[in-house]
Amino acid sequence: MNFKIAVVAGDGIGPEVMEENIKVLNAVGEKFGHKFEYEYVLGGGCAIDKYGEPLPQHTIDVCKASDSVLLGAVGGWQWDTLPGDKRPEKALLGLRGALGLYANLRPATLHQALAGACPLKPELVADGVDIMVVRELTGGMYFGEKGRKMTDMGEAAYDVEIYAKEEVRRIAKRGFEIAMQRNKHLTNVDKQNVLESSRLWRSVVLDVAKDYPEVELDHLYVDNASMQLIMRPTTFDVIVTSNIFGDILSDEASQMTGSIGMLPSASLGDGKLGMYEPVHGSAPDIAGKDIANPIATILSGAMMLKYSFKLDEEAKAIEDAVTKVLEQGYRTADIYSEGMKKVGTKEMGRLIRENL
Ligand code: IPM
Ligand code: MG
Repeated sequence: MNFKIAVVAGDGIGPEVMEENIKVLNAVGEKFGHKFEYEYVLGGGCAIDKYGEPLPQHTIDVCKASDSVLLGAVGGWQWDTLPGDKRPEKALLGLRGALGLYANLRPATLHQALAGACPLKPELVADGVDIMVVRELTGGMYFGEKGRKMTDMGEAAYDVEIYAKEEVRRIAKRGFEIAMQRNKHLTNVDKQNVLESSRLWRSVVLDVAKDYPEVELDHLYVDNASMQLIMRPTTFDVIVTSNIFGDILSDEASQMTGSIGMLPSASLGDGKLGMYEPVHGSAPDIAGKDIANPIATILSGAMMLKYSFKLDEEAKAIEDAVTKVLEQGYRTADIYSEGMKKVGTKEMGRLIRENL
């Protein structure tokens, strides 16, 4: 089959981890008889430098016309002082919004070979960590009204947390559907003891739950959830939560995998078009040094094969190759421990291809 993929490699380590991802995808294409065609477009800081804006219309158009989008990472110190809507991050938020990608899947899986890199005590993760965070991605305070105003305490700023019932319904449904394909356990995370938006959120989740009697549903307040995650990580299956809570909890969950350099993500809407990107950022301090871990990006490529193209076997081939390379003892700097073989970005990519 033929697939058209828009590539937003972005800034910092984005381009170098993307290069390895594409080489792995091409190797998979060759092995299984698929053709992937890439169209490179600019988004983030590099687009600001070239066009004066982080997300040019052309980039949105190309992404919309593609079967799927791969994204590296955006951002860097050069652009840190720009106003909010001119910052590189606008490329990410803008694409998620423009493409209607409201469901963000962030699987935190601890590879047994990396158990030593997990900061939790071995007995806490002995049963294996396998958590899927389902984060709402186009609502809440990241997209709500924001502004500044004068108050009796002086200048103030606000970001409105707002959720419509339908927005909650579709992400809750996605959470239940994913739980059905996994261990049928869904944890809803909100803050309904304080937030009105969470009270509406909780009521919709309870309503959607009626359609999924097989799924065991529980609820945690976000502060408690952040605590339970490190106390009993192996007892979680799927977590469904709002945009900001999911942003925070997915970074927490990422640490259980040994490094944020291991965590892929998929951003999905109702169609097959999705955007696939590592959870980590652009890491400008290590950019261009051939030391970044490309695994999160390569695993995001695998998620694209699975969720957008329904190529399950091909996706599994990549995941298995990653597992094998880790079992062989190869590590990038972020997951390195004594006695292992330290490799750079390119070599890690090559080893994964070799193990396909
Ligand atoms: C993420 C990032 C982004 C987000 C930022 C860079 C806009 O933290 O993908 O988790 O908050 O969603
Ligand atoms: Mg984040």
